[in-house]
Amino acid sequence: MHLLDFQGWSAERVHSILDSADIMREVLDRPVKKVPALQGLTICTAFFENSTRTRTSFELAARRMSADVVSFAAGASSLSKGESLRDTIETLKAMRVDAFIVRHPASGAAHLVARYGGLPTLNAGDGRRAHPTQALLDAYTLRRRLGSLEGLKVAIIGDVRHSRVARSNAELLPLLGAEVTLCGPAPLLPRELARPGVKLTTDPREAVKGAGAVMALRIQQERMAGGFLPSMAEYALSYQVNERLLAEAREDAVLLHPGPMNLDLEVSGSLARSERSLIGEQVENGVAVRMAVLYHLLVGRRE
Ligand code: CP
Repeated sequence: MHLLDFQGWSAERVHSILDSADIMREVLDRPVKKVPALQGLTICTAFFENSTRTRTSFELAARRMSADVVSFAAGASSLSKGESLRDTIETLKAMRVDAFIVRHPASGAAHLVARYGGLPTLNAGDGRRAHPTQALLDAYTLRRRLGSLEGLKVAIIGDVRHSRVARSNAELLPLLGAEVTLCGPAPLLPRELARPGVKLTTDPREAVKGAGAVMALRIQQERMAGGFLPSMAEYALSYQVNERLLAEAREDAVLLHPGPMNLDLEVSGSLARSERSLIGEQVENGVAVRMAVLYHLLVGRRE
C-alpha cells in the first residue's frame, strides 16, 4: 500500500517494478506519452521541503498516467499559521485525494503521513532516513547500463551522514546482489550503517577499487550548522569524485549523482559532464521508474 522504505521487500518485487519501468519508457517514447492507468485518481504531492527532480518527475509520472495532481506547497500553506502536519494531511484527505507523495525534512515524517492519511503514501525523501524512489531509479539506471547488479561493486562517496539516498541505496542495492561501500570523512560516516553487503571506509581509493559504479553524494551544507568539516576546499582535495579517483575504479566504471550537485566540490564538473556520467540518464529514468511505482501501488490496489 505504501512505499516508505525497503523493509520487507524482496528482489523479485524490485525487479518487477524495474521491468514495469522498461514498459513505461516505451510509453514515454511514443508521440502521445499518456496511458489511462490512473484515470479518476487524484494524487497529492505534499512537499514540505524543496525539490526539483523528485517533485517534477512524480507529477509528470502521475499526469502521464492520466491522474489528477494537486500540489501542496508548504511555503504558501497554513503551516505558517501554526497548522500541524496531522491537521494538514487530514485537511487534504478531506478533499478526497487518493494518495500522498510526501517529502519532509524530518526523518520518519512519511510514516506519520501514512498513519494520519490512511491513504497510499510514497516517500519522496524524509530527512536523512529514506528516499526509496531515488534508489529505485539508481538501480534501474545501473541495470539498464550494465545488465545486472549481481556482484557489482558500488562506491558511494561523500556526506553519508545526512544522506537518505545513501541509506536507501544501502538497503536496495545489496538486495539486488551488489556490494556497497560507503565512504566519507569519519564525522560524515555513521558506523551503524555497516552490515552484510555494506562496508565502510574513510579512504576513497579503497572504496573505488574494483567498483563498476561510483556515486558522489552532495555535501549538505544546510544540515551542517554545527560544522563537520574543516573546509570545503580540504574536503574536495581528499574526497572529490574526479577523473583521477575514477581511474582507480574499474576501467568501465560509471558515475552517478542523485543531484542537485555542488560542481567541483563533491564531483568535478568535467567528470559530471563526461561520457562516463549517467547523471542525465538518472533524471530521465526517474519519470519511468515513478510511473512504475505508481502503477504497482495504485493500480493493483484499485483492482
Ligand atoms: N535527487 C533529488 O531528490 O533531487 P531533488 O531534491 O531535486 O528532488
